[in-house]
Amino acid sequence: MHLTVTLERADLGALETPMLALLLPTGGTLPAEAAALDDSLGGTIRRTLDRRDFRGGRDETLHLSGAARGVSRILLVGLGRPAADEDARASALRRAGALVARQANRLGVARVAVFAGALGERETEALTLGLTVGSWRFEETKTPPPEDERRAPLEAASILVPDEGAAARGLESGLAIAEGHALARRLGMMPGNRCTPDYLAQTAREIGDRHGMRVTVLGRAEMEAEGMGSFLCVAQGTPQDPKLIAIEYRGGADDAQPVVLVGKGLCFDSGGISIKPAQGMEWMKFDMSGAGGVLGAMEAIGRMKPAVNVVGLIGSTTNMPSGTAVKPGDVVRASNGKYIEIINTDAEGRLVLADVLVYAKRFNPAAVIDAATLTGACVIALGHTATGVMGSDDALVQEVLDAGKRAGEPGWALPLWDDYKELIKSDVADVKNSGGRPAGTITAALFLEAFVDGYPWVHLDIAGTAYTETDLTVIPRGPTGVPVGTFVEFVRSRGGVR
Ligand code: BES
Ligand code: MN
Ligand code: ZN
Repeated sequence: MHLTVTLERADLGALETPMLALLLPTGGTLPAEAAALDDSLGGTIRRTLDRRDFRGGRDETLHLSGAARGVSRILLVGLGRPAADEDARASALRRAGALVARQANRLGVARVAVFAGALGERETEALTLGLTVGSWRFEETKTPPPEDERRAPLEAASILVPDEGAAARGLESGLAIAEGHALARRLGMMPGNRCTPDYLAQTAREIGDRHGMRVTVLGRAEMEAEGMGSFLCVAQGTPQDPKLIAIEYRGGADDAQPVVLVGKGLCFDSGGISIKPAQGMEWMKFDMSGAGGVLGAMEAIGRMKPAVNVVGLIGSTTNMPSGTAVKPGDVVRASNGKYIEIINTDAEGRLVLADVLVYAKRFNPAAVIDAATLTGACVIALGHTATGVMGSDDALVQEVLDAGKRAGEPGWALPLWDDYKELIKSDVADVKNSGGRPAGTITAALFLEAFVDGYPWVHLDIAGTAYTETDLTVIPRGPTGVPVGTFVEFVRSRGGVR
């Protein structure tokens, strides 16, 4: 990660920093802790607030010049209307933290101090996460500009608190989740020729080594032995070895059933023989965002050590047209014996996940949550704002929706009614892999459900939420880190951490 975050006891009067960010709600007045500082600046902050040049609205920022020594710059950042509940307060702090970091990066300020009044554990976590999310950047495949043209990147942020108390724990968990987010976003941003199934497997092994987790990787030969004809038909158009990756974290009792997190890991999705239009096809490097989310969550979990057993499963390959590729009309047999008619080779994510969901059964899961950039239809239905949430168990669906809300990654439930199953009935096989355009997100989930056997299961369609095609003020164009926060929240609430 690029940013170091620390906690410091607040003494704004004696502060030396290139930039102080003051986070204020709508209609907020100068905090008492900042009075002496403002006096030393001749009352400039108070006058700014009195004149209502800055009103504390959501995403509002105002940059004031400070003094020759002490505090050189002041950045006022709006938190929006005073939050109604804890989740809203956390999300306001996360947003504001991200804005601070992005502004500092833009200005070339290497260090920033942040003051938002007294902070509890949850609030400190949110602010820490915001700061790190906002400072994230991807520059692995860009030649750096010459030294004298470079702006200093933001390197350190200190959160000023009246007393550390509970904030220290929030800093720890915020940094753990931030590492997970950063990993997921880095993997998402990496091009398909670098982020390959093999690279994801290697990344999983590194996470395993770092945190003492067992990592198992199946390749083409091992999957053939398991009869995974559904997964393998997607991989048959590429010479790259497909990978089914399992990472096992043991934080709970030996006999406690694990939470299983499953991720779609298509390192590139051209559509295969049912090839996609050229326009925008480069975005399909993000088709491994579910897998990135699983790896990011396992990294965060390794750091946080919740008292739960967790298994991360990834199905990874690349969907390519070729002389050996699977074609429309083909029938394949999944590892649970079900026959699938291939209608559209671009509906490949569900084919990969089918065998991974069958594989999940052997871990005797307490719950399985899969995340996949599964359908364009989900982007049409919910845009880039909400994740589509569907499942076989209403209580589990609600638990996942709640976890997403706490994480600031909102989800919205769609129904899995039997009537929709008509759309994926096949003349020649047990099920077909596409039901056409109507209810595309639901029929994709119903296809997956045919491979879920006896465990509670929820599916997250993150096709719209895992990346953004426009700058979202707090997040630049590219990967968002979704669903790392949802996974982590779910797991730690199962572990009784919160
Ligand atoms: N990875 C895509 C889904 C996708 C599309 C994600 C656009 C993000 C943005 C998936 O593999 C796919 O191609 N789905 C098809 C399914 C269809 C053929 C039934 C789709 O959504 O068009
Ligand atoms: Mn596809
Ligand atoms: Zn896909």
